[in-house]
Amino acid sequence: MRALFLCLDFSVIFATMTSTMASPLSTVGKIKDRMFRLISNDIGIDLGTANTLVYLAGKGVVIDEPSVVALNKKTSRVVAVGSAAKEMLGRTPAHIQAERPIIDGVISNFEVAGEMIAYLINKAEKEYPKLLGPRVIVGVPSGITNVETRAVRDAATDAGAREVYIVEEPMAAAIGDRLPVQQAKGTIIIDIGGGTTDIAVISLGGIVNSKNLKIAGDKFNQDIVAYMRDTYKVLIGEKTAEDLKMNVGRIIEKQEKKKGKMRGRDLITGLPKEITVTDKDIRSAMQNSVDTLLDSVKAVIETTPPEIISDTIGSGIYLSGGGALIDGLDKVISDAIKVPVHVVADPLTAVARGTGVILENLSEYEEALVSYDNELPIIQ
Ligand SMILES: Nc1ncnc2c1ncn2[C@@H]1O[C@H](COP(=O)(O)OP(=O)(O)OP(=O)(O)O)[C@@H](O)[C@H]1O
Ligand SMILES: [Mg+2]
Repeated sequence: MRALFLCLDFSVIFATMTSTMASPLSTVGKIKDRMFRLISNDIGIDLGTANTLVYLAGKGVVIDEPSVVALNKKTSRVVAVGSAAKEMLGRTPAHIQAERPIIDGVISNFEVAGEMIAYLINKAEKEYPKLLGPRVIVGVPSGITNVETRAVRDAATDAGAREVYIVEEPMAAAIGDRLPVQQAKGTIIIDIGGGTTDIAVISLGGIVNSKNLKIAGDKFNQDIVAYMRDTYKVLIGEKTAEDLKMNVGRIIEKQEKKKGKMRGRDLITGLPKEITVTDKDIRSAMQNSVDTLLDSVKAVIETTPPEIISDTIGSGIYLSGGGALIDGLDKVISDAIKVPVHVVADPLTAVARGTGVILENLSEYEEALVSYDNELPIIQ
């Protein structure tokens, strides 16, 4: 049976080779890429603080789950990942624990992160089996340390990956939105995730200036919890705060108001309490964090060579990540830096889609990848 598959595969490979050879633009690398794609999967992973996405070449985003792992402490094995792991919380024996492998954009637990990467690769491989191990590319926050990079590479290799590449999230998001990252013209992208905001200036396929700050979705939620506690003396959970941020939050003032009900615990009576809050409350809660974010964007622009910045004035800058969906954030940034701001299409999947684009044109995006311990990656 396997021999038959091999015959079939290689007849298709031969057809692909001859058709590719006819093209004047064909290169040996591209032919090899296409051949391997027939017998091996190309997998892109966006290992985010809040959400983990897996992109499978030819299929699109095949896994989109919260970044939670349920771990059996006795065996150190992953029992479930994503929503299933979240649901296990509080309903399982004590030795099953739910953990978030990435906190504030940093790998907090290498073992769990490794288990999660292995689980995701194996799941994608099981559903779409191929003869050879996959090529894997992992999106990571900008400024990741060499130790973390190595941990991610090792985890993917241990899970059977044939080749492993690493890309910084803002670069992947820009590529996912098909922004002109390889041109000698500056592209500024701000990826506002759950744990970190990455502000990156990209030119000629590389990140020329960047800043990574811990003010992102999780911090906004904590701001809302603190504001409700201080202003209304009501204690709410982070999930309630996140719902308020998404449904009631608005960063700019508009005539028509947004309102929403929230339930929490009255800190004075200790009893449950329901109150109505408005967009003004959420705006006030997030004010300081938004100001810090704006200062950081300005700082990156101020420290970027003027010829790169001058290019962006006309085309504008881009927002990706879930935080890009906060009502009015694009307008506030645009007002602060006097440059148009665009939210990329489907900001939550931009990084994952970017990994897919890179895998399809690996030799073209070599510059965009994180080098292996400061060495340029070897593209075979
Ligand atoms: N409609 C929305 N409005 C406001 N915030 C949103 C919306 N949708 C998602 N978010 C927020 O976006 C964040 C998750 O974004 P994303 O999935 O890009 O993060 P991540 O990639 O997991 O994190 P990181 O890149 O920091 O590691 C969460 O904090 C979530 O509350
Ligand atoms: Mg992200």
